[in-house]
Amino acid sequence: TCMMQSAFTQFEPNYDESKVPQFEVPDLLTTFNGEKITKAEQWEDKRRPELLRFFEEEVYGRVPGNLDAFSFKLLEQDDSAVNGKARRKQVAITLEKNKRSLNFNLLLYLPKGSPSAPVFLGYNFHGNHTVTHDPKVLITDAWNENNEALEISNNKATEASRGKRTNRWAIEKMIDAGFGLATIYYGEVDPDKNDFTDGLHALFYKEGQERPETNEWGSIAAWAFGLRCAMDYLENDGDISKVVIFGHSRLGKAALWAGATDNRFAGVISNDSGCGGAALSKRQFGETVGRINHSFPHWFADAFEQYNGKEEQLPADQHQLLALIAPRPLYVASAVEDQWADPKGEFLAAYYASTIYGLYGKAGITTDELPAVDRPIQNTLAYHIRSGGHDVMDYDWEQYISWAKKLFN
Ligand code: GCU
Repeated sequence: TCMMQSAFTQFEPNYDESKVPQFEVPDLLTTFNGEKITKAEQWEDKRRPELLRFFEEEVYGRVPGNLDAFSFKLLEQDDSAVNGKARRKQVAITLEKNKRSLNFNLLLYLPKGSPSAPVFLGYNFHGNHTVTHDPKVLITDAWNENNEALEISNNKATEASRGKRTNRWAIEKMIDAGFGLATIYYGEVDPDKNDFTDGLHALFYKEGQERPETNEWGSIAAWAFGLRCAMDYLENDGDISKVVIFGHSRLGKAALWAGATDNRFAGVISNDSGCGGAALSKRQFGETVGRINHSFPHWFADAFEQYNGKEEQLPADQHQLLALIAPRPLYVASAVEDQWADPKGEFLAAYYASTIYGLYGKAGITTDELPAVDRPIQNTLAYHIRSGGHDVMDYDWEQYISWAKKLFN
């Protein structure tokens, strides 16, 4: 429609480095009141909480209360998955609030032969059955975005889409390296459409409420909440030692926010998360705040809209989101052809966040010069820019696995 036209021209993306505005990077070590801090304790007592509150109130939105009940049920398990190398479990998780409930299924592959293993936990975009050809994996009946290549139509997944996204999930490589995988279809937690009548939000409404309040959660915060609920299960599953959360793109934004809000996650991997994820908003390169709020009005708190086209007024930027994860291991990854997600902005955010890793004596990114393509920097805070486009490739998983092996295994 003409309305959309004008908003899109208003937020025309810039891909020219020389047109990136001059801006001051909000300082990690100066509080909103101007107080300078120098130590990890001051970061934890003063600066970290106020930054967390900013992202909660003005970016992703606050979760309005706690669940009334949480339960889970093992649906099935089998010892002969992944060519006999892994055990598969499928677990139904039920969340209850205000006499309403929501169910989502967790698919787990765990390496056999080790008493407890670290796992990667990550949402998938179209259903657990798409990440593997395994015929036993249950097909989701939640709302699904149509996708011709994946053979999903009428907003429902069927047998036809089984195994269609195996390219994004190097499961056998994880298992061979001693890691497990836990994955969930994100649409079971909150369907990815601008409709607040369904999914997690609806459980929390007061009588007569139809959408979240201005400072309350959008879908990214709801997906992050779902990851924390999955963690409530995983920390009680004796087969699992540590949980590293992973997410691609919009689900990378959710993984970062989950990692920032819950320190039970031992590490975080952001794959091409871009605007509202790892990329600095103030660069206004590729996707911008105004553009993302226009295209995906349900992702962030409504309060975030005050910064549409006004990035210079943001009192904090995404390097400060990354810093909330410190000193836990964090991997930020970009792809060179994914300019929409601003690889350089993702890199610089990791570089600036390194200040806080330094407070804890952990190594981060020590140069502000973007590394060469396919030349990872793997410290506690890691970064790579891969050749190719917006995707998750074996190359990415190979890096995450080798890095995680050093840190978690
Ligand atoms: C769109 C959106 C991005 C997002 C991406 C994805 O391109 O603009 O912000 O990361 O979808 O989730 O694949």
